[in-house]
Amino acid sequence: MGHRDGVDVEIFSGKSMAVDRSAEALARGAFGEAAPRTAEDPLAWPDPRAVRGKLIAVEGIDGSGKSTQVYLLKRWLESTGHRVFFTEWNSSDLVREATRRGKRENLLTATTFCLIHATDFADRYERQILPLLRAGYVVLCDRYSYTAFARDVVRGVDPAWVRSLYSFAIRPDVTFYFQVPVDLALLRILARGERLKYHEAGMDLGLSTDVRESFRIFQSRIDAEYRKMAEEFGFLVVEATRSAHAQQAEVRAAIQKRLDLPSFRWNSPE
Ligand SMILES: Nc1ncnc2c1ncn2[C@@H]1O[C@H](COP(=O)(O)OP(=O)(O)OP(=O)(O)O)[C@@H](O)[C@H]1O
Ligand SMILES: [Mg+2]
Repeated sequence: MGHRDGVDVEIFSGKSMAVDRSAEALARGAFGEAAPRTAEDPLAWPDPRAVRGKLIAVEGIDGSGKSTQVYLLKRWLESTGHRVFFTEWNSSDLVREATRRGKRENLLTATTFCLIHATDFADRYERQILPLLRAGYVVLCDRYSYTAFARDVVRGVDPAWVRSLYSFAIRPDVTFYFQVPVDLALLRILARGERLKYHEAGMDLGLSTDVRESFRIFQSRIDAEYRKMAEEFGFLVVEATRSAHAQQAEVRAAIQKRLDLPSFRWNSPE
């Protein structure tokens, strides 16, 4: 493995790549083309239990405050000198155009909606999340497979099928579930001056012709799925009606308790 100032990341080709220390640079797409999984055996799937990094996910309905909390967590970890990488749902360049067109022209069925998001996830998982976990990063995910388990099931996809579709992905070490009443989430979204997005409001399901009412119905159903999953997957439930500051204190305390943070510092011994 080569070595420079930064930390080297072994990618699936077996080559290594010096990585810019800033997570922003990585998020801009520091990773190249997809490569065989390991140099020795292109079909071998890296053992997820062997990863040195830790995986943290945030989940909850739209407007619950996930991005606010994960951003504050990221800045805190970075400013205290830790190896951090951030990735968010539905952000892969690979399928962006297909997703955009499918949504804009209302072409997506429950199945294609599910598969297109799974492809987006798999692309980021194989080229970013897993390599960085192997390189010993704390990887922060703004939404993980649980978003699919909630949304796709509400859209009519079989719960067991969507779980098996994502079974290649390792379980996060900690999944925060920001629990908030739908009406408060709606108020927060409207307060930021944005219009409700068609698919986030579930308008494609024909639940109501009123976009706010559709949002309420759709997000309530999603929240019901999250509540069931909280037990199934051991989410760490955060009471998300509170101030951002109070929640962040709880999030940081949980991370400090569950992760050996000093081992993720840039200057920590390998
Ligand atoms: N604890 C809080 N109290 C009041 N407002 C908040 C709180 N947390 C976040 N907000 C505000 O609520 C809005 C939604 O927050 P945020 O974008 O973090 O939610 P989200 O869960 O990421 O939503 P989405 O799923 O749509 O991406 C933002 O304008 C944010 O500034
Ligand atoms: Mg967000």
